[in-house]
Amino acid sequence: MTMETIPFSQACENNKAPILSVLRTVFTDPGVILEIGAGTGQHAEHFARSLPHLTWQPSDQPDHHNTCRARLGRANLPNVLEPIALDVRHRPWPVGHVDGVFSANTAHIMGWQAVEALFAGVGELLGPGQSFCLYGPFNENGRFTSDSNARFDQHLRAQDAAMGIRDIDDLNVLARFSNLALADRHPMPANNQCLVWVRTGPA
Ligand SMILES: C[S@@+](CC[C@H](N)C(=O)[O-])C[C@H]1O[C@@H](n2cnc3c(N)ncnc32)[C@H](O)[C@@H]1O
Repeated sequence: MTMETIPFSQACENNKAPILSVLRTVFTDPGVILEIGAGTGQHAEHFARSLPHLTWQPSDQPDHHNTCRARLGRANLPNVLEPIALDVRHRPWPVGHVDGVFSANTAHIMGWQAVEALFAGVGELLGPGQSFCLYGPFNENGRFTSDSNARFDQHLRAQDAAMGIRDIDDLNVLARFSNLALADRHPMPANNQCLVWVRTGPA
């Protein structure tokens, strides 16, 4: 892939600064952060460059991770590890020690079984006190938080009935099974949110 042919997301350019402002407060200590569903690699590049105390471990599904590999290979940052092929549905995940997990715009793309696997895997990976930060559009109390999110959900389900905006209450049911407690909800531009769960209970 040449720089011109590496897929680019305008949404990532728009949301990377607001997300970074949250990550600065969540991942304060040095450590390895696993990114799930890294997509174009734009987030990985921006966050690793801006948070040099972190080591960024990008990942994506086997047939997608070449995209982030191409961008991050060119960026050649000292604190970005080689992207790994990770489909959350296939556990145990091929991941070493991590200190936190980040994922953006994945819960509404994954089918529900994959979302279940996401929370189960994160719960297995993190130790007490460590955080999982999930960015995207979410429903609250069974309702869309905006008309644009309702239209987006319709658009997703028309493409694939398994996709769709998830309700925070439903995610919290999965989180509780995995000893993850919702610690923070940060409103983000364009009716998105950054949700932060912290691992509780036994390691
Ligand atoms: C809408 S893209 C978001 C990409 C990027 N995080 C962003 O915010 O632009 C959804 C991502 O979720 C990933 N994804 C979907 N199902 C997955 C699964 N089962 N395991 C891991 N990643 C998955 C896709 O490969 C894709 O990279």
